Amino acid sequence: MKVGVFGATGQVGSVMRAILIERDFPVDEIRFFASSRSAGQKIEFKGDQVEVEDADLADFSGIEVALFSCGANASKVLAPRVAKSGAVVVDNSSAWRMDDDVPLIVPEVNGVEIKNIKKGIIANPNCTTMVAMPVLAPLHKEWGLNRIVATTFQAVSGAGGAGVKELADQVFDVGQDVSKLAFDGSAVDLGLSKVFPANVAFNVIPMAGSLVNDGSGDTNEETKLRDESRKILGIADLDVTATCTRVGVMTGHSLSITAWFRNETSTKKALELLELAPSVELVDIPTPLLAAGRDPSFVGRVRSHYSDPTQLSLFVSGDNLRKGAALNAVQIAELLL
Ligand SMILES: NC(=O)c1ccc[n+]([C@@H]2O[C@H](COP(=O)([O-])OP(=O)(O)OC[C@H]3O[C@@H](n4cnc5c(N)ncnc54)[C@H](OP(=O)(O)O)[C@@H]3O)[C@@H](O)[C@H]2O)c1
Repeated sequence: MKVGVFGATGQVGSVMRAILIERDFPVDEIRFFASSRSAGQKIEFKGDQVEVEDADLADFSGIEVALFSCGANASKVLAPRVAKSGAVVVDNSSAWRMDDDVPLIVPEVNGVEIKNIKKGIIANPNCTTMVAMPVLAPLHKEWGLNRIVATTFQAVSGAGGAGVKELADQVFDVGQDVSKLAFDGSAVDLGLSKVFPANVAFNVIPMAGSLVNDGSGDTNEETKLRDESRKILGIADLDVTATCTRVGVMTGHSLSITAWFRNETSTKKALELLELAPSVELVDIPTPLLAAGRDPSFVGRVRSHYSDPTQLSLFVSGDNLRKGAALNAVQIAELLL
């Protein structure tokens, strides 16, 4: 396959390059694209030095699969151009996910949607939604999901390299003064917050994403979790209440989920289903640190409600850069093969 990686210099792009090699994806030719800022830079791939091309100026002919992680604005412009030149685009941004003519795919859950590529574009879900899908899908199949209340705990790398830098800078700013934080957060100057609406180091910010302009008070991360879960699971009226928070974690998004089903659940059966579910690993204590750098969604704290057996709670953590973005995109490319 002739493969193009768009956003190759970014966090997701670099994980994509690594995963293509790890999974032995049959690459005959690779091309790397980014903005004019990084054009000309050389990146190693399987022993070769590959020059990064300016995506605005490049000729895309010959590319068969294009893996995109260059943000929604660039994707809106570039994805149709690359698809028109003959490639299938697998896009990581929010640009195309809710387009009726673009399938939104998690291979383990709704891989059959690969048959419905109308625009030459396939969308990859948002990294938080992605972590939950392999866990909720088998439970939905067994009992019929109809409502979710979820609180997310999202890592700074979900906001790009700039988010990682902001947390790192604030942690290093604190330096040896860290013990003071135990008594009085204001005793320590955590530096400027540009990416996040409050200091993210040693903190929990109950607003991940930006407020949507519909008067609901929801952020776009919260509406993405609702809309994308509905589309992937095929439950048009799924009732989702989400509160998305940003936490001082480098990589690994987590969700605390309480779900309601049409039928009665049991903890024992839920554990059996999750044990068998693809891309899911059952553990006693799922954490983002456990998930970072690994492929599965780690799920634990699974329990049916004491008085309402239609209600089940669980906690799930997954790597937002791997399954949440790069790995799922490569798995979609494998489905295309
Ligand atoms: N981070 C996550 O957990 C995550 C999860 C799911 C999806 N995503 C999606 O993936 C995108 C990238 O995330 P990231 O964390 O890798 O961000 P990042 O580290 O900031 O990297 C952004 C990449 O996009 C490139 N880019 C920016 N504007 C461009 C343009 N106009 N034309 C071509 N390339 C352009 C950048 O190239 P330069 O080097 O030239 O600036 C860089 O390679 C996000 O915007 C989001 O849509 C991210």
